[in-house]
Amino acid sequence: MRLTSAPARSTAYVVRQATSADVPAVVELYRSLSPRSMQLRFSSQMSDVELARVADVDAESGCVAVVAWVGDELVGEARYVPWEGVHELAVTVADRHQGHGLGRMLLGQLRETAAAHAVMSLRAVVQVQNTAMLRLLEQVGVSIVRPPTGGDIVVDISCDDYMAGWGTDTGRPRVLVESAGRAEHPSTEALRDAGFDVRQCTGPGRGRGQACPILALGRCRLFEEADLVAYLLPEDDEECAEIGQRHTGTHPDRLVATSFEEWLVAAPALAGSLRSGARSSGDVQHLSRDEARAG
Ligand SMILES: CC(C)(COP(=O)(O)OP(=O)(O)OC[C@H]1O[C@@H](n2cnc3c(N)ncnc32)[C@H](O)[C@@H]1OP(=O)(O)O)[C@@H](O)C(=O)NCCC(=O)NCCS
Repeated sequence: MRLTSAPARSTAYVVRQATSADVPAVVELYRSLSPRSMQLRFSSQMSDVELARVADVDAESGCVAVVAWVGDELVGEARYVPWEGVHELAVTVADRHQGHGLGRMLLGQLRETAAAHAVMSLRAVVQVQNTAMLRLLEQVGVSIVRPPTGGDIVVDISCDDYMAGWGTDTGRPRVLVESAGRAEHPSTEALRDAGFDVRQCTGPGRGRGQACPILALGRCRLFEEADLVAYLLPEDDEECAEIGQRHTGTHPDRLVATSFEEWLVAAPALAGSLRSGARSSGDVQHLSRDEARAG
């Protein structure tokens, strides 16, 4: 159990792991949400029956939650639920407690609890207009699994300091694209469409609070587990340049592009290699940077 207070209000929040005894209070929290918060949390307005179903904390289903109380009122909750081979997270803070650091506190506690259960990464599906949730996640460091097309962005966060890894091996070659901003370059999109497993990292936080694990700790799971890497971060940024140098020093063979110009050539070449028969990571690993650049 952790006793902390939000500086803006000096409110003492008691944050702890939830049990089934907390479920009725979680339902009350969900029911109390404003239409906007309800929309951001559930993507639609929910009936009481549906809210009772999603509020469940069930050891058998693997759902784990942490809750925040002020006195006898439950004012926040964060949970993850196993879903299709990943653990999907969501955070909910009562409207009048939003913007005072409680979401950050709950997410921190959820990550610690997940790590204690040997769950090392969590996935979030977030509406692109949900600035608060995106800031919360980006402060931890996100790996973009699906770019913000169609209203939602899908990201993985780590439960330790090394960035989320790639999760279950899909058998498809893994391409890490390091590029500032959440939007996806059309060449990257084409690669994804061709069947590559693509993740995008937006690089060091620069004000968002995200520390690059390569710079801070000397290693990054996302980079280590990638087959190929497109390094498209701004070279005139000191930290980004340092990352580029570290990549070159450790795995120069994986770097298929170090500028957008190179990526414009390398990405179609890689997509073509997959179409023409390469089916696994091993098949495309032989594609050196020069081969990719040559098309
Ligand atoms: C999203 C949510 C969980 C965030 O929790 P919170 O307690 O409000 O957020 P925090 O106070 O911890 O702030 C987190 C960050 O978001 C920023 N933020 C908070 N509210 C914001 C807002 N309305 N607009 C823009 N940024 C906002 C904070 O400034 C902070 O960033 P900073 O550290 O860079 O300053 C909460 O607002 C919520 O429950 N929203 C409705 C339900 C929802 O959207 N859930 C997420 C579904 S995946």
